[in-house]
Amino acid sequence: MTVKKKFSLNLGIVGGGRACLYFLNLLETTSFPDLDLKIIGVCDINPEAKGMIKAEKSGIPTFKNFHDLFQNTTPDAVIELTNNKSLSELITLRPDHVGVIEHNIGRLLRTLFEMNQNLIRTKEQAVLDKGYYEILFQQTNLGVVVLDLEFNIVDANQVYLDACKKTRNEVLGEKCFKVIKGFYAPCPSDLSNAECPLMKTLNTGKPSHIIHEYALSEDKTKYFSISAYPIKGLDNKITHIIELWQDMTSEITEKWENKVKRIHSDMKKIIQEDRLVALGKLVASSVHEINNPIQGLLTFGYIIKDMAKKVVLDKKDMEHLREFSDHMTRELERCGNIVSGLLAFSRESVLEFKNTDINDLLQMVLSLTRHKLELSDIKLETSLCLDPLIVYGDKNQLQQCFLNLIFNAIDAMPKGGKMSISSGIKKDQKEVWIKINDNGCGISEQDMEHIFDPFFTTKEEGGTGLGLSIVYGIIKDHKGDVGVESNPGKGTSFLISLPCVN
Ligand SMILES: Nc1ncnc2c1ncn2[C@@H]1O[C@H](COP(=O)(O)OP(=O)(O)OP(=O)(O)O)[C@@H](O)[C@H]1O
Ligand SMILES: [Mg+2]
Repeated sequence: MTVKKKFSLNLGIVGGGRACLYFLNLLETTSFPDLDLKIIGVCDINPEAKGMIKAEKSGIPTFKNFHDLFQNTTPDAVIELTNNKSLSELITLRPDHVGVIEHNIGRLLRTLFEMNQNLIRTKEQAVLDKGYYEILFQQTNLGVVVLDLEFNIVDANQVYLDACKKTRNEVLGEKCFKVIKGFYAPCPSDLSNAECPLMKTLNTGKPSHIIHEYALSEDKTKYFSISAYPIKGLDNKITHIIELWQDMTSEITEKWENKVKRIHSDMKKIIQEDRLVALGKLVASSVHEINNPIQGLLTFGYIIKDMAKKVVLDKKDMEHLREFSDHMTRELERCGNIVSGLLAFSRESVLEFKNTDINDLLQMVLSLTRHKLELSDIKLETSLCLDPLIVYGDKNQLQQCFLNLIFNAIDAMPKGGKMSISSGIKKDQKEVWIKINDNGCGISEQDMEHIFDPFFTTKEEGGTGLGLSIVYGIIKDHKGDVGVESNPGKGTSFLISLPCVN
């Protein structure tokens, strides 16, 4: 390493007043990279002058007049700070090799020294600022990216690089929209989840906050909260934008999951309420159905009572008795079946997914609704697959689905009609299908868009509009699908498909 030789300059000061004091103070705090500047003496007739006192304190020799200064020291130059009066005398009497710096030049020197001092202070501040910047930039857990007004990345910290899975060299000088989104133009402002923070801040001149959504893969999305701040130059115009990126994915996902949980529990409640509505509809028709056999049973009861009055029963009586008791048992079984079906359906059950035969389930639903169909003058045709159709599902919920579809079909045929229920397995053997068809009023094109919306109903009395949204929810929970075809005035078909258990 070569050490640069410093140029040395020994100065004397003539005039020890306030200008001298200022000069000495200034020199004390100033250093020059290429100059070794020393004050080797100060002279003034007044030993109490402020500059003289300062010089003495600093160990600089002081003299009463400049003759003494020249005799005792060997300055390269003297600065005249006495206010001009002694300048001509000084010029005449100085030794030949000693230069004279006139007080105006002295002032200029002072200004230069001051500027030098400011420069040093600014440099020190800049070093300090750089230190702060680097610590904050690299140690923060926020992603930081500095952009120029042309969307070019000027600087980026490691967190940001990790978030976009790129190296520093890959991003510096690149457009931010290309690095982050793979776009070839700035993010369009009409994308609600990708509005450009830089543009927003440039337009308003103020910081902006935006949440961006990034689909990393089909089932993985990240959310970043981006805050953009303007950086202004000396002319107060924005020169750069600094963006702080915070990964909000876990926070947002947690909130989202809580919301989904809440919706699920609300849905459970609604399904339970819908079961009660369905139960009400079933009970109304079952009461009729139970009442008929009860009338028959009562009549048989009276006859048996009369017979019992006889002392001896003949052969004919015994035959009648056998016949009546057969009837009674059959009718009581029928009542018992209806009541136990209703009881089973009304029971509040926990979700229980297990292998379930769809055909069994449809038979059960039909035994619950047969009397309602008869009362409504609806002819039922069934064409169920002969083989068991096993799906993995919750019996009660699937039963509720089919009931809702059958109730809708009944409502669509107020003057009676024909309903057919069929089931089968698709060619690929992966899905079973169930079709519920009616020749009722059908669904208009406008209504078709809304039938699965909760609370959509066209029924003036008693419709809650929840039936089909519950069907949809349950079938989706079973990883299945619901399709509908309708011909207004002619009828409707609902087609359900569910994954089949091999
Ligand atoms: N088979 C069908 N034929 C004609 N329209 C239907 C049929 N099924 C459903 N719809 C139409 O879809 C609407 C929504 O049905 P959804 O089952 O959700 O509610 P709802 O039947 O009106 O009320 P709820 O089910 O509470 O009794 C019905 O109001 C009706 O307009
Ligand atoms: Mg309904």
